[in-house]
Amino acid sequence: MKRATTSTIDEASWLRLDRAPGETLRAALGRTIREAIHEGSLRPGVRLPSSRGLAAELGVSRGVTSDVYAQLSAQGYIVVGDRSAPVVADVEVAGATGRVAAGVQPKPPEIDLSTWAPDTTLFPTRDWLNAVTRTLRGLPSRSLDYGDPRGEAALRVTLSGHLGRTRGVIADPERIVIVQGARQATDILFRILARRGERRIATEDPSQTIPRDQMRVYGIEPIGCPIDDHGVAVPAGLEAAALIVTPAHQFPTGVVMSGERRREVLAWARRRDGYVIEDDYDAEFRYDREPVRAIQGLDPERVAYIGTVAKTFAPAFRIGWLAVPEALADEAASTKRLMDSCSPRVDQLALARMMESGDWDRHIRRARAVYRARRDRVTEALARHLPGLEVSGVTAGLHVTLRFPPGVDDQAVAASARALGVEVLPLSNFAVEPAATGGLLIGYGHTHVSAIDRAVRRVARAVAANTG
Ligand SMILES: Cc1ncc(COP(=O)(O)O)c(C=O)c1O
Repeated sequence: MKRATTSTIDEASWLRLDRAPGETLRAALGRTIREAIHEGSLRPGVRLPSSRGLAAELGVSRGVTSDVYAQLSAQGYIVVGDRSAPVVADVEVAGATGRVAAGVQPKPPEIDLSTWAPDTTLFPTRDWLNAVTRTLRGLPSRSLDYGDPRGEAALRVTLSGHLGRTRGVIADPERIVIVQGARQATDILFRILARRGERRIATEDPSQTIPRDQMRVYGIEPIGCPIDDHGVAVPAGLEAAALIVTPAHQFPTGVVMSGERRREVLAWARRRDGYVIEDDYDAEFRYDREPVRAIQGLDPERVAYIGTVAKTFAPAFRIGWLAVPEALADEAASTKRLMDSCSPRVDQLALARMMESGDWDRHIRRARAVYRARRDRVTEALARHLPGLEVSGVTAGLHVTLRFPPGVDDQAVAASARALGVEVLPLSNFAVEPAATGGLLIGYGHTHVSAIDRAVRRVARAVAANTG
């Protein structure tokens, strides 16, 4: 039995002493505390009242509480220090809620290519600390109250300029809502559309699964629109309130949407009086060509534009932005207010400061150079070890997509790769309708350049093991 390291509360004033007939005070108190530990309400690390404090609280003598604590300590339920209050021990408790028994967590893979998250070791800790410190130093006390549900004006103004400059987005600060990641942006839009009675929203096939799950919560049916080498193909007569797209780097195939398809998508939205939801999730990391402009800049009244710091900074920050058409602006703000009043204000102000100071752009440039080197290594390794297979999505983002010919089971290949110590995601995980061909997402954001060749060699072995 080891002593737990966290302590969270120093009182347990809800503990009540219910004595069963014939039960002694000591037995009743010991049983009550043991039961609370078993049911999980007193969790490992929680500090209990001192024996004196508990005795006063329960109206019993201190001798009773001291004896009970001594017994619980001997039984391994609590740890009693010389001078400190007793702490609930990290015991194995059968049936306790929320506990993960040691040893049941899966072993992490030797090389993880399954994530498309950024390398969090590149996080600019010093710049962020600077920005937070300076923000807090000058913070008026009213900034600690609830804020504008749309977010801090300073960040919206900064973003309006930044997105115009870097992505060709046309967004007045009044039309921007700061959200907690792209996920909250889609959630807000789906709530608005569901309230308007809409029951169908189109999405690229394949695509990220979370927006589809979010839609279903509001009774909206996701409609898959196939992806080919030019991006999404809008089916004739598509009936949907909106179409979600990832034009700069389609998730997960990596295809860049062609100019013609962009025009088709916008023409569909105008015809249907619907919306395009543009998820511009990793556009900052583009390596080879001129950045592709966001579709939003071509028709700001038809396109709701979403950006996030999940790739540029770290997913943990939960900061994103939603630039909406005028017709959605008021409802987007009121929906955000209902959801959480406003996003964390200090983080927003610090981010605005970092963007204004130029530290943000410097961080992106540094990270882009690191990722470009990894992308180069991945494409070289794939060309060397899997020369016959098509690779897409190399121009941007933090992953490339390896395409299999018909007949190769991508789930089986991923399982073989896992057995060889490499975690990769099968393309079929993201299908709306079952697809004729599969593939693998090779995420390189997390993987050091020195491990990439070894990882791809093992993926090639996994492919070989599953092809006839
Ligand atoms: C297609 C796509 N959009 C958006 C995101 C980011 O979502 P969030 O900002 O909620 O973390 C991801 C995450 O990796 C993604 O794959």
